[in-house]
Amino acid sequence: MVQCRICGGSVDEFFDFGRQPVSDSFVTPQTAGSEFFFRLAAGICTECTMVQLTEEVPREQMFHEDYPYRSAGSAVMHEHFEKYAHQLLQSELSGDDPFIVEIGSNDGTMLKTIGKAGVRHLGVDPSAQVGEFAKEEGVRVRTDFFEERSAREIAAADGPADVIFSANTTSHIAYIDSVFRGADAVLAPDGVFVIEDRYLASIMAQNAFDQIYDEHYYLLSVTSVRNMAARFGFELVDVEPLSVHGGSMRYTIARPGRRTVSGAVTEHVESERAAGLARPETYHRFARQVKESCAKLVELLTELREQGHSVVGYGATAKSATVINYCGIGPDLVPFICDSTPAKQGRLAPGTHIPVRPSAEFSKPYPDYALLFAWNHAEEIMAKEQEFRAAGGKWILYVPDVHVV
Ligand code: SAM
Ligand code: TMP
Ligand code: ZN
Repeated sequence: MVQCRICGGSVDEFFDFGRQPVSDSFVTPQTAGSEFFFRLAAGICTECTMVQLTEEVPREQMFHEDYPYRSAGSAVMHEHFEKYAHQLLQSELSGDDPFIVEIGSNDGTMLKTIGKAGVRHLGVDPSAQVGEFAKEEGVRVRTDFFEERSAREIAAADGPADVIFSANTTSHIAYIDSVFRGADAVLAPDGVFVIEDRYLASIMAQNAFDQIYDEHYYLLSVTSVRNMAARFGFELVDVEPLSVHGGSMRYTIARPGRRTVSGAVTEHVESERAAGLARPETYHRFARQVKESCAKLVELLTELREQGHSVVGYGATAKSATVINYCGIGPDLVPFICDSTPAKQGRLAPGTHIPVRPSAEFSKPYPDYALLFAWNHAEEIMAKEQEFRAAGGKWILYVPDVHVV
């Protein structure tokens, strides 16, 4: 029996994607085959409802010097973080000499606005290369993992934080108990710990199975975060749905009794119960849909190849690792993937080794079909690539189901 990392309850495994590579390990032709592989499987805790992976990838295999993901790769995300930074500056960070810690600050997309306002801040992120971009923006960075050890050092050096912010990172940290002990060490008595992450209810409603990959150790819901916060000595006081990344949630956590708990928390717990998110059967149904989607996608790509149509991938997302490796999609079906991230270009996608090329190559010439792996940025990408449609090109999407637009 696999034990829940949060509460020790039993985890009911609902999907096994088999042997998968680390999702962000974009290899060179010389290093192809050196990817770290593990068994990717997800389950739900029958006690606290946290959806989680059943095998943990060592953190140094995922987050290191060469970690390629950059938050600034999406204009929408850039705007999203800038807006929230301004919101924090006017609320939680408006007091006397405020201080904010960001867990997973990446290239500084969020903190640069805070830094420019002259507010004390510290970004904590183990990935050195992306951290250099943050430093260039004037962001103060500690190249390290946030956990109890580093948090105690931060508290000793910088004093208590009014805000701990973490977007699309908390779910990446299997040793989350240590993160909460760290939050306890560094958070001011009335401070808030704000977490943004992909929302389980959106993932389930859209059959977005590719949100399951090594970095997404947890898939958070309001119910599971409420239970987790309480277990580790905190209280979930507010939640706010966000449209980014295909459906996210912003969770505001505080020390118990320090803030009024918003009605939105219980409303979402209730809607999650009604959606069956606490019931293993819901996930077993999801598993059947995942298998159907993958079979349909491979069938469509094979058919297009047989008909002589050209197909190119768009967005070498970490998510796409699950799709290409589970469905067995290699360069024979998708000859290359266009991506705007310099650190991914000229590399091969992990596992099935589809080459990644600069976005500019998308139009040279336009393919007949583009498989949109970055479906969570569909609006932004489709607006940018209007000429592709005008030239007769079609998008292939597999979320919420396989369809062509
Ligand atoms: N917050 C950014 C955003 O939302 O676009 C970056 C998200 S990126 C998917 C996850 C980031 O978390 C990476 O830059 C990674 O290096 C960092 N990370 C992973 N484990 C961490 C930890 N224990 N402490 C701090 N950062 C961590
Ligand atoms: P994400 O879904 O994890 O945010 O990753 C998005 C990937 O798609 C990332 O590698 C950057 C890439 N991308 C483009 O190539 N063009 C774009 O316009 C956008 C928004 C993303
Ligand atoms: Zn549990």
